[in-house]
Amino acid sequence: MFDLDAFVARCRAAVPAGPDAIAPIVREAIADPAAIDAALGAPTRAGARVLYQAPHMNVIQFVWPPLFVLRPHEHRLWAVIGLYQGGEDNVYWRRRADDPKRIEPHAVQALRPGDVASLAVDVIHSVANPIDGLSAALHVYGGDLYATERSEWDALALTEKPHDKTFAKLAFERANAALAARG
Ligand SMILES: [Fe+2]
Repeated sequence: MFDLDAFVARCRAAVPAGPDAIAPIVREAIADPAAIDAALGAPTRAGARVLYQAPHMNVIQFVWPPLFVLRPHEHRLWAVIGLYQGGEDNVYWRRRADDPKRIEPHAVQALRPGDVASLAVDVIHSVANPIDGLSAALHVYGGDLYATERSEWDALALTEKPHDKTFAKLAFERANAALAARG
């Protein structure tokens, strides 16, 4: 069974050792999606639900809207992502040598239930939910994502700008309205 308090306690103890110590804890948790649903409720709406927030660590459940793309962004924190429902297709980007404010793609990673991704502090990624349904993941960050100044990149021009904190929230609200309309 998945016990959120026990999961957070294990992660808190492992955080000083970094993402390599967090990844097996996340992998074990997401191996049983039904247990996560029993503890957190089965996802019914898109959103970011903060399960634990402290200066040294966040645990966030992300539920991605159907057929959704989150534009390139960084965290300036290491992150461990454990997908347990649906899919997360990641494009990893890097700053261009000839123009460091712009980015170019350099790798992709398709996460499916049971997959864990470990992201270094300087990773830039965009995330797509490729299925016509909700996708869900547990994300553990090595700091406070909401208190960290960071950048995102315009999806068309691929140019750097400050992270817009409201973008994902509004996108989730739009998606939830569309989901509600579907019935
Ligand atoms: Fe991200």
